[in-house]
Amino acid sequence: MIEQIQKIENELSSYEFNSAEDTEKFRIQFLGSKGKLKGLYALLREVPNEQKKDIGQKINMLRVNAEQMLLDAKQNLVGVSANQAKEDLTRPAAKMPLGSHHPLSIVRREIIDVFRKIGFSISEGPEIEDDWHNFSALNFPPEHPARDMQDTFFIKKGENEIALRTHTSSVQVRVMENNQPPIRTISPGRVYRNEAISARAHCFFHQIEGLYIDEGVSFADLKQTLLFFAQEVFGNKAKIRLRPSYFPFTEPSAEVDVSCTICNSKGCNVCKNTGWLEILGCGMVDPHVLESSDIDSVKYSGFAFGMGVERIAQLKFRVNDLRMYSENDLRFLEQFKSAL
Ligand code: DAH
Repeated sequence: MIEQIQKIENELSSYEFNSAEDTEKFRIQFLGSKGKLKGLYALLREVPNEQKKDIGQKINMLRVNAEQMLLDAKQNLVGVSANQAKEDLTRPAAKMPLGSHHPLSIVRREIIDVFRKIGFSISEGPEIEDDWHNFSALNFPPEHPARDMQDTFFIKKGENEIALRTHTSSVQVRVMENNQPPIRTISPGRVYRNEAISARAHCFFHQIEGLYIDEGVSFADLKQTLLFFAQEVFGNKAKIRLRPSYFPFTEPSAEVDVSCTICNSKGCNVCKNTGWLEILGCGMVDPHVLESSDIDSVKYSGFAFGMGVERIAQLKFRVNDLRMYSENDLRFLEQFKSAL
């Protein structure tokens, strides 16, 4: 018996693992149910009682030794898969930090989607504009206050004036210059005004301009388009009302209010107890403006409108300090994660 133990001990100590398959061979040969160690345990029954404890211990030692060899070999040879076996692959992955869209991007995209549904294309123009596109082609008289340094950031004064555009209506002109009707487009973009920065005013903000020119376009088309827009953005119970107004480039002109979505028109501090919120300016494109861009004002008519993205965002998200939109405070920005 002692000899057999010795023999197996020698076999173990000279055993060489060369490949991953050897680990399984080793297990069957030494530790399997018909393996050499099982054989030794079977022989133990025939050993005289007084030697049983001693010899039993020796066989146990051999088994512990063989098990350890097998474990070491698996780790060395099967390496990767042994490590993988320790990983629980069904565990959920570690959380990835989620970013969020800027509230103005969310609102801009929503507005664009609404107008895209009814066939409006998207057009863009430069933020640095000449006098013609920002003012003259839009019928601004020379003495108009917007042409004053107080209101506009001029880059070059005098002849061929260059300024930061004060509104996206300048893109209207560029579209009309380069296309003949039918024209149906919206122009989102950033605009600049020489204002002292406060909760209610900023030196830059965002607008979306709309323009529709074709044969027989009427004020009724304008009203219906804006009602559709208001109900898509503020809910299908939203109502609109138009108040007469003045813009140099539209005639007639109007300002549009939407029924207050915050108090359901009952009166609150946001709508100043009027039940209405001002959202945009609009009107029928002045025939003079059409002609300035070589569009036949006898054959064609059109409407235009312009809205502030910050204003719509303020109504949707109740953010009433304009400065927050450009401060990049993460505590503010992270509140819009769910508003994608
Ligand atoms: N451009 C105007 C502004 O910045 C907004 C506006 C009013 C645009 C009436 C229009 C319009 O197209 O028809 O205040």
